[in-house]
Amino acid sequence: MKISIIGCGYVGAVTKACLAELGNGVCFIDIDDKKIKKIKSCQSPIYEPGLDALLERNASRISTSTSIQEGITGSDCSFICVGTPSNEDGSINLTYIKSAAVEIGNALRTMKNHTVVVKSTVVPGTTEDVILPMLEKHSLKRVKEDFSVAMNPEFLKEGSALNDFFHPDRIILGIGDERGRTVLGELYRSFSCPKLCTSIKTAEMTKYVSNAFLATKISFSNEIGNICKKLDIDVYEVMEGVGLDQRIGPKFLNAGAGFGGSCFPKDVAALIALAQQKGENPILLKSAIEINEKQPGRLVELLKSRVGELKNKRIAILGLAFKDNTDDIRDSRAIPVIADLLERGADIAAYDPMANEAMEKIYPSIRYCPSAAEALEGADGCLVMTEWPEFAELQPEFDRMRKKVIIEGRRILSCEGYEGICW
Ligand code: UDX
Repeated sequence: MKISIIGCGYVGAVTKACLAELGNGVCFIDIDDKKIKKIKSCQSPIYEPGLDALLERNASRISTSTSIQEGITGSDCSFICVGTPSNEDGSINLTYIKSAAVEIGNALRTMKNHTVVVKSTVVPGTTEDVILPMLEKHSLKRVKEDFSVAMNPEFLKEGSALNDFFHPDRIILGIGDERGRTVLGELYRSFSCPKLCTSIKTAEMTKYVSNAFLATKISFSNEIGNICKKLDIDVYEVMEGVGLDQRIGPKFLNAGAGFGGSCFPKDVAALIALAQQKGENPILLKSAIEINEKQPGRLVELLKSRVGELKNKRIAILGLAFKDNTDDIRDSRAIPVIADLLERGADIAAYDPMANEAMEKIYPSIRYCPSAAEALEGADGCLVMTEWPEFAELQPEFDRMRKKVIIEGRRILSCEGYEGICW
């Protein structure tokens, strides 16, 4: 099948490379010339283990374009994978979605039997009430008769996105008509996981609910962790016992500094905003966000209770990425922690195996170190913010600290004498 993919961000880049690996001809489309140049030289525009190799192996099936109209002409279906950031009030910002819809609509004027698949995370109703009318208006054609629309959400985790693509728990297919069903059915034919065909709106909602549930599961563990700490009980032992109940499951019960990343905070906020627009007050979702926002402050308070006033104290921060195995710092819990420490006048030395550069763009004034050992040199306290496996190996490095106060926001250290945020 010939596929065009609009947007070379995280979801777009992974989806394209994986669809090419399945044997499809794929055109990468992005208005950002720098990203397209990278793809042309088989380099991924984002960091994801294995993606460069996948691009190189499938180079003969991959083409590129900076123009939607040029890129989608001649393809059987196009995937919209552009970003859906948040507005100030948490609601979804559809700017990129709308401009993609205009361009695709214009291209559809000269095309037949094309299927437009929305993969970007969009709130229920967006595909049918916003994208579809724009496609009809700009193509001067009718959906179902001349072209099709479908919705196919992604469930890719950064750091394991290729494995998640090829071995999904399920595939959700939001279907608008028979042509869309046939195209997506063909595309995912080789997958043996459950494939759920739903309405377009249901597919959109399924994505939000999956992320909202996982985010709530983490906040639930964090709340229980905060209680357990007061009772001198190890929340990880509790959750091991709890997670063995098959109705609950062991994953996403790790208590700590809270969730970050490009999806959970933004998607839960968008779902809350949508619910409120519809006259609902989503108490549980709001609490999941509130707990998440308070965890970084608890970490700093704990540090203060051990180190004293933080003004002019040398604090080492280990880990800046929102989780391990990525250079992504979007909504990382390290961001509010750095802001808080700076406000209190602390002197920060930070280290992350991959994300120093990204954080330097937000906080240029703090010191970025090439190793954990260097960040720990002469420190009065240390906060561990990301679960990088290399931190588990740290032992003698902590002896370089002036005062050995080590507080973990993620359960990763194996050395003696540290304290956890919830344990
Ligand atoms: C998430 C979803 O898992 C994925 O299905 C969706 O498509 C995109 O959003 P991702 O943002 O890559 O993926 O990260 P994920 O591994 O889910 O972790 C999100 C955050 O939650 C991280 O900050 C992580 O440290 C935190 N987390 C995760 C916990 O605090 N505790 C846990 O038990 C699990």
